[in-house]
Amino acid sequence: MRTQVAIIGAGPAGLLLAHLLQRAGIESVILEARDRAYVEARIRAGVLEQQSVDLLRDVGLGARLDREGLRHEGVELAFNGARHRIDLAGLTGGKAVTVYGQHEAVKDMIAARVTSGAPLLFDAKVLAIDGLETTSPSVTYSKDGQTHQLHCAVIAGCDGFHGVARASIAPEKITLFERVYPFAWLGILAEAAPASHELIYARHDRGFALFSMRSPTITRLYLQCPIDDQAERWSDQAIWDEIDARMGGAAGWTPKHGPIIQKSVTPMRSFVAEPMRFGRLFLAGDAAHIVPPTGAKGMNLAVADVRILAQALEAFFHHQDERGLDRYSATCLDRIWKVQRFSWWMTAMLHRFDDETAFDHRRQLAELDYVVRSKAAATSLAENYVGLPFTT
Ligand code: APR
Ligand code: PHB
Repeated sequence: MRTQVAIIGAGPAGLLLAHLLQRAGIESVILEARDRAYVEARIRAGVLEQQSVDLLRDVGLGARLDREGLRHEGVELAFNGARHRIDLAGLTGGKAVTVYGQHEAVKDMIAARVTSGAPLLFDAKVLAIDGLETTSPSVTYSKDGQTHQLHCAVIAGCDGFHGVARASIAPEKITLFERVYPFAWLGILAEAAPASHELIYARHDRGFALFSMRSPTITRLYLQCPIDDQAERWSDQAIWDEIDARMGGAAGWTPKHGPIIQKSVTPMRSFVAEPMRFGRLFLAGDAAHIVPPTGAKGMNLAVADVRILAQALEAFFHHQDERGLDRYSATCLDRIWKVQRFSWWMTAMLHRFDDETAFDHRRQLAELDYVVRSKAAATSLAENYVGLPFTT
């Protein structure tokens, strides 16, 4: 089999890249290790920046997002028993974020791909990639118990943090930057109407808590928990008690309770791989970088990467112009590091660290108070939260 672009991974990065390429008249094949049901049910974060929404809309992926996505023009920070609203729209000239589950966006993109008839292979696990330094690389994958080869001009490694693309680069050619946080998040979905219209990020001495939502009937909540915690260790009652203690203490408010329909533990990591290009292999999304979820940036970073990659591939295939591909890594990394900084900063400002001193504690509270009282500081949070401008 032969194609122009072999895309490894049908997460947001791979699916959106395929869609953008198809609109530009460039062929691709998506190879995804898991089955469709698994990919469509995988619960992840759910906040889209303004320009991620604008892009999805512009390329014909916005119909259900416009119907079901919840536009949020503000977000709240809670500490010391009080909630403080950051006026995202007022501080950024009218920009907002949209709450829409990542797996819903993934379902929309899979549906568009399947309708188009362009190749998207599930249960197709990539085993190896070869010929990166040549003009005709190839991908070896297994499907239905057989091994196949896909020949192409370019490989897009959109296969997430644990994928094969980054792992196939010789260690001396890649530099990894990493910070692992000494805690995780326990995330739950509950059948309960959201008791606040906006997200609430709460700092409490028992640990961080986050109130979010998915729909008018589903509440999404997160609790800072030990790094080695397991969701099964938490009874539903223990979860609600902890949420009420933290939210009540930090915000003077508690969410509505309801049946818990999903719970999982997510580790927290900041990670960047440089560069993002190796010959004819281009990394995008979680394959190249991870942010802790506090800034809600994971999917937005994937969108920003593939937007740049699609533009560069268009110039390459249609005009034999390689300058965009040559610039791809540096262009992405410029913005990625700013988003890394923001995600780290939000995480540091809102979590309890086991080794924190009394000085750290006072400084953290002073920082929160400064952010909610200074228009300059609140504007900085707001412009990052709604999304820094795309780089080109
Ligand atoms: N062969 C084929 N597919 C693979 C392989 C492989 N060897 N290894 C991994 N994959 C697939 C995974 O099964 C997954 O569906 O690649 C896909 C990667 O998707 P994501 O992990 O969703 O990564 P990405 O598309 O970059 O999206 C980033 O996901 O983790 C969240 O917070 C993150 O929101 C961000 C988003
Ligand atoms: C979510 O709704 O899943 C969510 C919201 C905000 C975050 C992270 C996750 O910062």
